[in-house]
Amino acid sequence: MTEAYILGIESSCDETAAAVVRSGEQVVSNVVFSQIATHQPYGGVVPELASREHLRAIVPVVRKALADAGQSYQSVDAWAVTQGPGLAGALLVGISYAKALAFALEKPLIAVNHLEGHIHAVLLEERQKGNLELNFPLLALVVSGGHTHLYLAAQRGETWSYTNIGRTRDDAAGEAFDKVAKLLALGYPGGPIIERLAAHGNPRAVVFPPAQIKHADRKERNRSKPSEPRFDFSYSGIKTAVLRYVEQHQLESSIAARRRNLASIERPKLEDYLANCDRETLDLVASFERAMVEDLVAKTLAAAAEYAVAGLLVTGGVAANGDLREQFKREAAKEGLPVYFPSRLLSTDNAAMIAAAAYPKFKARDFAPLEFSAEAALRLE
Ligand code: KG4
Ligand code: ZN
Repeated sequence: MTEAYILGIESSCDETAAAVVRSGEQVVSNVVFSQIATHQPYGGVVPELASREHLRAIVPVVRKALADAGQSYQSVDAWAVTQGPGLAGALLVGISYAKALAFALEKPLIAVNHLEGHIHAVLLEERQKGNLELNFPLLALVVSGGHTHLYLAAQRGETWSYTNIGRTRDDAAGEAFDKVAKLLALGYPGGPIIERLAAHGNPRAVVFPPAQIKHADRKERNRSKPSEPRFDFSYSGIKTAVLRYVEQHQLESSIAARRRNLASIERPKLEDYLANCDRETLDLVASFERAMVEDLVAKTLAAAAEYAVAGLLVTGGVAANGDLREQFKREAAKEGLPVYFPSRLLSTDNAAMIAAAAYPKFKARDFAPLEFSAEAALRLE
């Protein structure tokens, strides 16, 4: 086996991250600088600010990843960087830096798709635990702030291949968490705070109708490959349903009061949120989370049955959600399917997953030409 220390760089959204991973199976260092504090006042990521923050953070973050790993610029075997998808300006910061280093140090440079990175976060940690026996085909749900995608993943030799069998037609699941949190004045990002507040509400209080996918049923045959049924998602409807609930139950003034009160607290804690949320709001939040989790689990398991997969892999920021994990485990167990998640640390954006996804490419000598650039809408297939 070729041993290699790869330094990964990730800058596709609002985390500047660098990590050293040994041979795709051991995290040697993992540094994540989150820009959440910068974007919080705006209730979402501001692309221009993200690029500036990446530019400020990239050098110290990479230096720390090297130092924590006991490595130097010269000693790592290859550099890997996220090529896309993501914010173009943000991606360019990581790419320009990685290119300059690889060129100056005469080391190979590997371009990695961010979505493939999320999948490899799970594979990396399974290898780290000594689980080398994954069965194929694997169905991977990548569910984050920007994506809700289902892929069939297969490995042939060193090469991984992915077939997309479902994606969101509008909002990503994490985006729905973020938009609902913004609407209810619960801050950014929405997922973590919604999860914590949902534990205090009644998840059956509000019934949201299941997502209606217009024009075609979610089992519509893939037009180009009629033998492949599709399992698409849609989350803009539930966001509108929450807005309608707010209007019908006249929650606007209590939301405005919460916004004012929380703005006056520097770092609001769970107790501060709870003190500013009435029962109706907690029930709404809990019911929203339940509806999201049920939809993600039901569609993924329907796809797993249709494609007769041997295992499930659930990854991306929303995979940090405890209820989602529990429900996936419970429902997959009924079908006798193993389900794998990354640790919470590697669920959200990080660079260890980029360095891990780069390792098979390193072995296959699949290096990026120095003229490669960011691809904001890069697809995985
Ligand atoms: O993977 P990630 O860090 O960035 C993207 O590639 O998008 O995912 C961030 C997303 C955000 O939308 C955030 O609200 C969501 O993941 N998220 C969660 C939780 N933690 C993060 N959603 C639900 N429950 C959580 N515990
Ligand atoms: Zn991500």
